[in-house]
Amino acid sequence: MGKLIIIASGKGGTGKTTLTAHVGAALARSGRLTVLVDADAGFRNLDIALGLESSIVYDYSDYINGTSDLDDILIKNSDLENLYFVAAPQSVPTSDFDEDKTEEFWNSLKSRFEFVLADAPAGMGDGFMFAAKYADEAIIVSLAETSSLRDADRVISVLEDLGTETIRLVLNRIRPELIERGIMMNADDCVDVLSIPILGIIPEDEAVTESMFKGSPDTEAGEYGAGRAFENIASRLRGNQVPMMEFGSSTKKGFLSRVKALFRKQS
Ligand SMILES: Nc1ncnc2c1ncn2[C@@H]1O[C@H](COP(=O)(O)OP(=O)(O)O)[C@@H](O)[C@H]1O
Ligand SMILES: [Mg+2]
Repeated sequence: MGKLIIIASGKGGTGKTTLTAHVGAALARSGRLTVLVDADAGFRNLDIALGLESSIVYDYSDYINGTSDLDDILIKNSDLENLYFVAAPQSVPTSDFDEDKTEEFWNSLKSRFEFVLADAPAGMGDGFMFAAKYADEAIIVSLAETSSLRDADRVISVLEDLGTETIRLVLNRIRPELIERGIMMNADDCVDVLSIPILGIIPEDEAVTESMFKGSPDTEAGEYGAGRAFENIASRLRGNQVPMMEFGSSTKKGFLSRVKALFRKQS
């Protein structure tokens, strides 16, 4: 049985879709049978990140409503042998889905794939719940800034209430030069305020913009680039120990105690 991992965040635009596409591709390249599900029904764009927007005929509402089989809704990625995609409906709200059929949908994917990654919408609405209720694990994607982290904190508490056992943090769009100047929080401080384990640290990298532009999640894995960070995250999901990339360590004194006061674990 595979596992369902939800990729969530408090705020939009933190990089959930980017991470789902790249980490999914990295898992598939390492030989793991992987399916990526676009759980962001209203604003679906994982199809674009994967270059599959013109391949969509059916989506998971067709399966959950009983008009399509699993094979009908699974779209194979033509470049990567082990990578599959399931599209979100554009007009059927996930709140209309039958709960038992929804659970059966996730279970049938888990029985066929080793990794099921669900790209959730921002926040904690219906699309989030569609995947969150059934998720075995969660990856919270946040920027290293107070408002993004505080919104992440709220999502984490909802996932904890749902009983999600493993909840890990990915920090995205890290800019080492800003950390060195003391105007961006470093990873240790972000982990400190959220009190969840870290799964990865991804630098700001224009190669990501280029991959998204091409509709192909194949960002080069240079030594310190985002491509390497995505590969490392995929490797950790496979259970390997991979050291974290280091991106500076000098959050300004006094700043952290001010930030900490905003978070639930400290208050
Ligand atoms: N590490 C990164 N470096 C540069 N640009 C990034 C990085 N991560 C994400 N982006 C860009 O940020 C934007 C939002 O990313 P996206 O994955 O769509 O966010 P979300 O799905 O959380 O709303 C996109 O334009 C994406 O290319
Ligand atoms: Mg998205």
